[in-house]
Amino acid sequence: SIIPVILSGGSGTRLWPLSRASYPKQFAPLIGDASLFQASAGRLSGAAFARPVVVTTNDFRFIVVEQLAALRLDPEAILIEPEGRDTAAAVLAATLQASETAADALVLIAPSDHLIPDTEGFASCVETAVATAREGRIVTFGIKPNRPETGYGYLEKSEPHNGPQPLARFVEKPDAATAQEMVTGGKHLWNAGLFLFRADVMRAAFEAHAPQVLQHVEAAYVNARRDLGFTRLDPTHWAGIDPISVDCAVMEKANNLSVMPYTGAWSDLGDWKAVWRETEQGGVATAGPALAMDCTDTLLRSENPDQTIVGIGLENIVAIAMPDAVLVAHKDRAQEVKQAVATLHARG
Ligand code: GDD
Ligand code: MG
Repeated sequence: SIIPVILSGGSGTRLWPLSRASYPKQFAPLIGDASLFQASAGRLSGAAFARPVVVTTNDFRFIVVEQLAALRLDPEAILIEPEGRDTAAAVLAATLQASETAADALVLIAPSDHLIPDTEGFASCVETAVATAREGRIVTFGIKPNRPETGYGYLEKSEPHNGPQPLARFVEKPDAATAQEMVTGGKHLWNAGLFLFRADVMRAAFEAHAPQVLQHVEAAYVNARRDLGFTRLDPTHWAGIDPISVDCAVMEKANNLSVMPYTGAWSDLGDWKAVWRETEQGGVATAGPALAMDCTDTLLRSENPDQTIVGIGLENIVAIAMPDAVLVAHKDRAQEVKQAVATLHARG
């Protein structure tokens, strides 16, 4: 079976003020009752999957334990990163953990903050790609793009059909013009951020393309301290890692990549505009006690049952009310919430 790895270390600052350093978006119920982390863990608990490996940071370890327990899921391991070093290190540490089961164990890397409503369709898509991964390919999963998003990676298909196939090229986070060309050209898919591979194959890819990361992560893993069900990666070795994403460290360079198109619904709930897009009805999305009068393309959300939010005549606005902070922003500038948080942080 496949060992699912849930990456859950990001702090999701673009979803401030709901997402906080102490309680990031993947653990909050953003859409529906379960958190995105729980939805991911649930999606990866079917017959095709073994127990999950979770990679997170010290601050979130008890949230992870609690939210898994609520689903009656028992993790294979919870790896604790001393500090976030981006996804390359997290993916590799989980890969080393998975290879304790078998050197050629199959691993599926999954982000914790995505919306993939069709659990069965998703599992069968992953299973269709298993044979390809067994052959020694790193399988990416591709989503048909519908806009020139610059926050995603792009996968260039080599064949027109919708089955697993060799990947012609991986382009991480292109500029706007390149993204537009790729969407118009019709050969590219968005990278869903999911990767299926054999543990030994991923280790070899790091050896070839990111040997420094391999050296530090391996040392941090070998010297990890097991404590109360957590595997604490060694802080001294971990500190030596230069932060880099797995997309830039490995995927843009490897020549043994394949792509499996995924045709079901998929969304990276990266910012409030994405949350609006996924929850709007007739252009307006509300959550909590909220009233939208004459509003278009607007998201109004109150996270406090005792605090009503009202919008009148708004257009292209996202407004999020928390008990201790309120965000009001133009919907098309939702990405800039990240800078706002940085500015607030600098002020102390
Ligand atoms: N454990 C751990 N440690 N997890 C991390 C860390 C870290 O240091 N940094 C990020 N993550 C987690 C995030 O919480 C998220 O679940 C996942 O790893 C992906 O990281 P993001 O920071 O959200 O990546 P991205 O959205 O910019 O880009 C990736 O995903 C896109 C699709 O959503 C890339 O793979 C793109 O190519 C892809 O299109
Ligand atoms: Mg993301």
